[in-house]
Amino acid sequence: FPAASSLCTPYLLLVPLGLLAAVVVIPSLGSSHVRSDGLGVLCPSLRTDGYSVASGAEKVVSAAAAAAAQPEFRLLVGVLTTPKRYERRDIVRLAYALQPAVPAYAQVDVRFVFCGVDDPVDRVLVALEAARHGDVLLLNCTENMNDGKTHQYFSSVPRVFAGAPYDYVMKTDDDTYLRVAAMAEELRPRPRDDLYLGYGFAVGDDPMQFMHGMGYVVSWDVATWVSTNDEILRHNDTHGPEDLLFGKWLNIGRRGKNRYSLRPRMYDLNWNMDNFRPDTVAVHMIKDNRRWAAAFRYFNVTAGVRAHVAEQSLGLSSAVV
Ligand SMILES: *[C@@H]1O[C@H](CO)[C@@H](O)[C@H](O)[C@H]1NC(C)=O
Ligand SMILES: *[C@@H]1O[C@H](CO)[C@@H](O)[C@H](O)[C@H]1NC(C)=O
Ligand SMILES: *[C@@H]1O[C@H](CO)[C@@H](O)[C@H](O)[C@H]1NC(C)=O
Repeated sequence: FPAASSLCTPYLLLVPLGLLAAVVVIPSLGSSHVRSDGLGVLCPSLRTDGYSVASGAEKVVSAAAAAAAQPEFRLLVGVLTTPKRYERRDIVRLAYALQPAVPAYAQVDVRFVFCGVDDPVDRVLVALEAARHGDVLLLNCTENMNDGKTHQYFSSVPRVFAGAPYDYVMKTDDDTYLRVAAMAEELRPRPRDDLYLGYGFAVGDDPMQFMHGMGYVVSWDVATWVSTNDEILRHNDTHGPEDLLFGKWLNIGRRGKNRYSLRPRMYDLNWNMDNFRPDTVAVHMIKDNRRWAAAFRYFNVTAGVRAHVAEQSLGLSSAVV
């Protein structure tokens, strides 16, 4: 770990402003599988096979498990976020790390996705974060909500991970609590191609459902199609409500025909926070710490944590005394 960090950090810090608008990836399958095709800077591998948002110790265990059993499919989860949201990212990291293990049939890698980092302070802090956690994907774009970041994400991923393609690519947000094992279970029996899955909703008379931006999955061929479809850019069709546009591209291109809505297992948390469901795949609108705490409580993430913390602080204070 320290070796990788020390290699990665200065490299990143030395990148001039313009070049930071590039892609920084710590690949999950070793750097040999990931080509740097002009997209950007690659940090050395941390060999974070398996479920990648986890403590160092867990990483070692899951790497061994991954070597023993080849997963049936691999899913990349991109959490779109912005550089300044450090506290939220910390909470979301906990949310992913403290979940039940993903079943062995799936390999899930989670990455936080930014556009280029302009602020000099954020550049340093994000570089450290990337070195420490190995879960940051930096895209070649300027930070925006409705100005092409989703398109940039889906079109960068097939190139960045060309050497080790995933079966599925997911986009989600930092106010969504995704239950990874439940999502894996949903994906397992589904087709591996031409898939578009999420929280479906109808738009106008269009018979094909669109997927809400809280989180949706496409198969690798669909992401590749987005990344190579120049029509989307030629029609300047990347500006606006991005997740709606995403559905529009697929409908025009007749892609994503294997379309699945996971409603009601994907939903928005309501104002009173009383609509959690035990079979949740993803719950959205977790926009402040109070709502994150409610989610952790509901899904029993905090069960048993309190006693452990108490013991530790006891140990600490007696050591100080
Ligand atoms: C980043 O995007 C800009 C504008 O689209 C492009 O000119 C530039 O070549 C890209 N840089 C990399 C490293 O791909
Ligand atoms: C694309 O759309 C954006 C936002 O509507 C606009 O600012 C930009 O000038 C357009 N670009 C082209 C090439 O039409
Ligand atoms: C949390 O634990 C309680 C008590 O064991 C159980 O009844 C409940 O179903 C659990 N909730 C979830 C979402 O698993």
